[in-house]
Amino acid sequence: MVFVNNATTAVATVLHNLKLEPNDEMIVTNLEYPACTNNFDFVAQQTGAKVVVAEIQWDDICENSIVDTIMSKATDRTKLVLISLITSATAVRMPIERIIKELKALGIETLLDAAHGPGCVPMDIDTWGAAYTTGNGHKWLCSPKGVAFLHVRNDLQDGFRPMVLSNHAQSLEAACTRTQRSAFNHEFDYMGTDDRTGVLSIVDSIAFLQGVLPGGIDAVMAHNHKLCLEARDLLCEMFGTKPAVPDSMLGPLAVIDVPSTTMEPGVLRELLFANHRIETMIVPSPKGNGLMVRVSPQVYNTIEQYAYMGEAILTELKAFENKA
Ligand SMILES: Cc1ncc(COP(=O)(O)O)c(C=O)c1O
Repeated sequence: MVFVNNATTAVATVLHNLKLEPNDEMIVTNLEYPACTNNFDFVAQQTGAKVVVAEIQWDDICENSIVDTIMSKATDRTKLVLISLITSATAVRMPIERIIKELKALGIETLLDAAHGPGCVPMDIDTWGAAYTTGNGHKWLCSPKGVAFLHVRNDLQDGFRPMVLSNHAQSLEAACTRTQRSAFNHEFDYMGTDDRTGVLSIVDSIAFLQGVLPGGIDAVMAHNHKLCLEARDLLCEMFGTKPAVPDSMLGPLAVIDVPSTTMEPGVLRELLFANHRIETMIVPSPKGNGLMVRVSPQVYNTIEQYAYMGEAILTELKAFENKA
């Protein structure tokens, strides 16, 4: 495992190491984080490889439909599949265990994007067995920005290199003998001058979170998951909408359809901040029309705050309709 500044850098680094050839294929889903898929598109353009998008249908989304949609795109040309542990805008805890396993049976490797991972939901990188896993410290672990890891499975570490090479690139073996680090770790230890204080503070972020609730980080994750489901149910009731995904596919984040509107997502988000001091994420529904609000509770949030947010959303939508 090595430290990088963020999950996007980890994704780009993996792609940089792939040695793709024309007509190789890489699968991404329509629910992946745009910065990650932008890097896939760029590398594909440079190499002649193809990015194949597995379009996960939002209506009646379930574990089986996700696995089937991804597996239906796998071919003997597929070199890598990008899958989020929890999707960013849509907050789905993907059935990554099944996806990684079924792909591996076909000899296809996975890049697991667990940007929402550490401190968010339980993680078992070794058991899951993805070729590459990235996770952020600067989200649910409450570390400073610029703190992420890239885990490369043991059998793939040989020859895996950072995008930025250090002074030791040409005398790597001697340098590794001096530092007693593997070539993989040594090269990622120094990628030019950088601020590593964030990385050094991870241990304190973890210690802090361990002390927030009796039961440590496990209790924090359980608390956030429970409050997420409560907030989701409350908002669905206030908005008269239905839960978008089964409870079994949620961590501590969820999206809720707001009542039908033609308002732009950014407009509602700004109004919520300007008029109600609410910072939240409003996203377009993957159905193609309508908006969703994403909740991602932390220990300092309360169910009353979600009731307040529900009222604020209804107020802003009503004012918009009255003006229209
Ligand atoms: C699923 C997912 N992947 C990748 C990222 C990008 O993370 P970073 O900004 O640390 O590169 C995010 C950020 O929200 C995300 O939610």
